[in-house]
Amino acid sequence: MIAANKQARGKSRAPDAQVGLPARRAAVELLDAVLRKKQPLGDILSRSLDGGAMSDLPQRDRALARLIVATSLRRKGQLDHVLNAFMERGMPEKSGSLYPILLSAAAQLVFLKTPPHAAIDLAVRLAQYDPRAKRYDKLVNAVLRRVADQGEAIAAGLDAARFNTPDWLWSRWVQRWGEDRARAIAETHLIEPPLDLTVKTDPEAWAERVDGRVLPTQSVRLLPKGRIDQLPGFAEGAWWVQDTAASLPARLLSDVSGKRVADLCAAPGGKTAQLVQAGASVVAVDDSKTRLKLLEGNLARLGLEAETVLADAATWQPDERFDAILLDAPCSATGTIRRHPDISYTKSPQDIEALSALQARLLDNAARLLKPGGRLVYSTCSLEVEEGEAQVAALLARNESLRLDAIAAGELAGEADWIWPSGLLRTFPYQLKLDSPEWSGLDGFFAARLIRTG
Ligand SMILES: C[S@@+](CC[C@H](N)C(=O)[O-])C[C@H]1O[C@@H](n2cnc3c(N)ncnc32)[C@H](O)[C@@H]1O
Repeated sequence: MIAANKQARGKSRAPDAQVGLPARRAAVELLDAVLRKKQPLGDILSRSLDGGAMSDLPQRDRALARLIVATSLRRKGQLDHVLNAFMERGMPEKSGSLYPILLSAAAQLVFLKTPPHAAIDLAVRLAQYDPRAKRYDKLVNAVLRRVADQGEAIAAGLDAARFNTPDWLWSRWVQRWGEDRARAIAETHLIEPPLDLTVKTDPEAWAERVDGRVLPTQSVRLLPKGRIDQLPGFAEGAWWVQDTAASLPARLLSDVSGKRVADLCAAPGGKTAQLVQAGASVVAVDDSKTRLKLLEGNLARLGLEAETVLADAATWQPDERFDAILLDAPCSATGTIRRHPDISYTKSPQDIEALSALQARLLDNAARLLKPGGRLVYSTCSLEVEEGEAQVAALLARNESLRLDAIAAGELAGEADWIWPSGLLRTFPYQLKLDSPEWSGLDGFFAARLIRTG
């Protein structure tokens, strides 16, 4: 993509011409990987930090690149509309990184209050470094000048929740959850979420140390300011990062102390850690070697122990049956768009179809691995019924040895609106309202608890 990266880094220029360029270049590369190659942002970020475009950036530039990427994705619909208003002939074909350059510069001009001369000059420079985009350098300059003048007003006149939600997701959510809920979900995606920690003990004391607050679920919530690994308690393994909604499924297994529990899709291990911490003897299964290594590293930092198994949980046949099973299945993750705004652009209806088929196979095997009387909790961080309610209904219809063990309204921190009359758990990102939007919200999660009767 931007072929003159090395030149940009290495060549001596006037200092003001260099300032801010590496962060913008990294942002453009990340956006290109998400939007054109459909790669998950989390994976690209790890690669980028590990020898890629972000690896030799100072922390401040990394944070800026992340912010530009997140804003470009959170506001993509509005930004596209603004850019289109000034590009009568549309986006030229085969123009290399032209689109991510324009999108990220528009995000800076319209939403990040970047001084226009800096955002425009750096965008023109990035276009000039890319052999495919360089013939559009004058277009970049002309379009972005107009964005700087009029972009904010145009964007402010648009329905942000609707514009920034791709049609396929919007129509699904309206159809299943109604327009008011769809809108409330989409509004949360515009805001950077807070950071939640699950602490081993003493949430009040940790909340004070990290300048956070204790949620009704006993998670500690804070507004992230710097690096997570530099927060108090990280090095000594006092807590792990886990959205408070993600901490609910493991708790549905209630008292697991002394029990043999299989965590079937376990990495990176947030729920494994909860189960071990609650006294269970846990087998953590995952089919990704890299992710299982991550889980092992996380447990080691926390001083917690679990057996780990690299296997396909849909076909895994150990010599034992378990007292309890947690199946936190791979899913479209549409309940986590607030945290991962790339999901709106990397996932598709076909993914939901393929993932639901995999979830059904995982559930069938989980049912086989359970002792009679044992409990199975199935969860996904998806807002899609195919990965939640419909999946459980189909499982119960084809498996007579399972019955639903309804979750009681008061069971989880007294948050009765998370539990539906059917006894299933479903959280929405707009719930858990605290005193400001920055402090509010939680991931959209689904969970069901089942018992094997025979
Ligand atoms: C939603 S994540 C699990 C998150 C984890 N439970 C936690 O709380 O940290 C889903 C995991 O399932 C794993 N996975 C996907 N397909 C699998 C399969 N067929 N067998 C086992 N693990 C699988 C993925 O590698 C991924 O780590």
